[in-house]
Amino acid sequence: KGTYGVSGGVIEELVKLDESVLGLQVGDIISRFEKKGFYLKGMKFINVDRPFAEKHYEDLSAKPFFSGLVDYIISGPVVAMIWEGKNVILTGRKIIGATNPAESAPGTIRGDYAIEIGRNIIHGSDSAEGARKEIALWFPDGPANWQSSVHHWIYE
Ligand code: PPS
Repeated sequence: KGTYGVSGGVIEELVKLDESVLGLQVGDIISRFEKKGFYLKGMKFINVDRPFAEKHYEDLSAKPFFSGLVDYIISGPVVAMIWEGKNVILTGRKIIGATNPAESAPGTIRGDYAIEIGRNIIHGSDSAEGARKEIALWFPDGPANWQSSVHHWIYE
């Protein structure tokens, strides 16, 4: 499950992995964003309660699957992350794959790890505005102040 945002002209993404991958392939999923060249700017391993989850999904509160989404995200610990880099929102969504795992391509995270739309493993923010809101909710202290010097050759 996850988020995206913009800070200082650089696009950021917050991705939230849910408990169904814990003990399976959390490292593999994280490494897909690292290998692409995005910067990890925040990471937490946490349980969230129902009010927090309802806030996270408040834009979907009228949907029939709202309570199912909330139940799922509070069913176990999650790995929440902020990723930063060029076009991270659009590219991050490609790495994650289509919302419905039945339609997400093999090689994407949902294509490789999920079957059910209500259990689609990972959330990514769908816009810069959404990312700003989600980063503020999940990381009230903001992203870490860090930039890897080993990645200088990735960016023009
Ligand atoms: S996306 O990928 O988040 O932009 O997808 P979106 O279509 O906007 O859906 C938002 C979240 O709602 C979930 N969703 C559903 N859950 C259960 N059943 C049905 N039919 C369904 N349709 C959409 C979808 O998995 C998204 O969850 P998150 O946690 O945001 O990925």
